[in-house]
Amino acid sequence: MGTNTMLWPILLILSLLALQTAVCEESGPVIVEEPDNRVDFSNSTGANIHCSVRGHPKPTVVWVKADDGTAIGDVPGLRKVLSNGTLMFPPFRAEDYRQEVHAQVYRCQATNPHGTVHSRDVHVRAVVQQFYKTSVGEEYVIKGNAALIKCNIPSFVADFVKVTS
Ligand SMILES: *[C@@H]1O[C@H](CO)[C@@H](O)[C@H](O)[C@H]1NC(C)=O
Ligand SMILES: *[C@@H]1O[C@H](CO)[C@@H](O)[C@H](O)[C@H]1NC(C)=O
Repeated sequence: MGTNTMLWPILLILSLLALQTAVCEESGPVIVEEPDNRVDFSNSTGANIHCSVRGHPKPTVVWVKADDGTAIGDVPGLRKVLSNGTLMFPPFRAEDYRQEVHAQVYRCQATNPHGTVHSRDVHVRAVVQQFYKTSVGEEYVIKGNAALIKCNIPSFVADFVKVTS
């Protein structure tokens, strides 16, 4: 009985020490792998955007819209937020294109009891793969003069087409 009462304070000190060590190891969230600033993808390939985070306790990761900070959810068949922090855009049919999903600025956001951090802005843009025609308008020029020839490219692909000559 006498020895037992002697042991209690020691056990108490030991458990306090253990608790203190655990508290010391805790840390706020850190984004380990920043997603790219621009993600362009085609409707036939889709895209996965990764955001890996570190922290103790393990941070939860959500994706938010950069303009108003609201958390986004799944859009069946078009957008999925995975629990490991990956934002997934599966391949989709042309008629399922949704501007607020496929042309949007996102950020990933990691939270644990010690704080919240977010990634840089990720500009996502999906393009629907389709055939397009470029044309060169006819220009009439007097022999010997310089001609300005315009290359007409449909607006939905213009950002992705490079005119070389
Ligand atoms: C998250 O999970 C998905 C599907 O299981 C996988 O494709 C992706 O690579 C994972 N992300 C990371 C960062 O490991
Ligand atoms: C992407 O769009 C093109 C053009 O409409 C279509 O032919 C193709 O099948 C689509 N891809 C998928 C995975 O649906």
